[in-house]
Amino acid sequence: MTVTQATQPVMIVQDPVKVRVGEILARFKGDSSELIPVLQKVQEAFGYLPEESMKQIARFLGIRESSVFGVATFYAQFKLVPTGRNIIKVCRGTGCHVRGAPQLLGELEKRLGVKAGETTPDLEYSLETVACFGSCALAPVVVVNDQVYGRMTLPKVRKLVEDGGA
Ligand code: FES
Repeated sequence: MTVTQATQPVMIVQDPVKVRVGEILARFKGDSSELIPVLQKVQEAFGYLPEESMKQIARFLGIRESSVFGVATFYAQFKLVPTGRNIIKVCRGTGCHVRGAPQLLGELEKRLGVKAGETTPDLEYSLETVACFGSCALAPVVVVNDQVYGRMTLPKVRKLVEDGGA
């Protein structure tokens, strides 16, 4: 007697990152010279370059995965970890340093619970430092997304993270 087992329908769940990257890649020809524009588009879609997208990009462009990583890590514009919805940058240039930028940075680190270069677990804020914004007359300078805040003080940075405005 033969026993036949009922077969369960197999549900194929597509990885959403893979699907989205596939849609992006479909707009390109698959030439290795397209690596940077491809990385830019993928980063635009996710806010960073997901690790799992590297292999897919490499296969599509016919290059090694290590080459994709090499370019992604070489250029400062590419981020390999998720960044916050708001990016706070504190100037660490000399002009801002002598006018209290380290204290402002310390206050932001304390308030957000992250160090410079890190992102809050809820992905609300990324905290970064910049060598000089070129607005030294406004020292100390803090930039939130594209908004420049000059002559910052401790009360102003507290207000920045409390209600999103200085
Ligand atoms: S030193 Fe801060 S803007 Fe130049």
